[in-house]
Amino acid sequence: MSHRQFLKLFLKQPNINASIIPSSKQAAKGMVHGLDLGNMKYVVELGPGTGAFTDILSENLPQNCKVLLVELEEEYIEPLQKRFDDRFEVVRCSACQLSSLLQERGIDHVDLVISGLPYTLPEEVKKTLFKTLLKLTHHGTQMRWFTYFPFLMKKHYSDFQMKKSCFVLWNFPPMWIYSVN
Ligand SMILES: C[S@@+](CC[C@H](N)C(=O)[O-])C[C@H]1O[C@@H](n2cnc3c(N)ncnc32)[C@H](O)[C@@H]1O
Repeated sequence: MSHRQFLKLFLKQPNINASIIPSSKQAAKGMVHGLDLGNMKYVVELGPGTGAFTDILSENLPQNCKVLLVELEEEYIEPLQKRFDDRFEVVRCSACQLSSLLQERGIDHVDLVISGLPYTLPEEVKKTLFKTLLKLTHHGTQMRWFTYFPFLMKKHYSDFQMKKSCFVLWNFPPMWIYSVN
């Protein structure tokens, strides 16, 4: 998918797409910096979009690792399915359904949740999703989030024990990456 189509989707639903171009390679590197990807068995990516972070997961996760990609926007689904190998399962639904998605697949441990979701999620989506994410992080799941507005992170994610992990200047707009665990 071209940057122009990404921009078109942003203009269609700015609250859902939340950025005008996909994240950069440097941003993707920042998102996985310090993680032991080579030993992971189950990873979840929320809001993969065109797959900017999925690419680096694909390059570094072992063959026996499964990855669940949860994306709401229909136009991203087929390109994601075509681009990534059978370690990756693409599901079109809201991230707030994560708990049942994991239950249906019999997954009781997730090594990593990497999120491209905007902080402008509807309140009811946030409430349900955060409940699942809190449970996962209490059981040792590592989480990575990014934001263009670090001053809003505390406000929106106050339930989580987040640490600022790094700053990526080489992205439009520049981003801050936060981690849990
Ligand atoms: C800021 S874009 C990030 C895309 C990509 N990860 C990147 O960094 O280039 C946000 C993504 O989250 C998706 N999204 C927004 N709300 C969602 C939800 N409730 N459930 C799943 N995906 C969602 C959007 O469709 C979009 O692909």
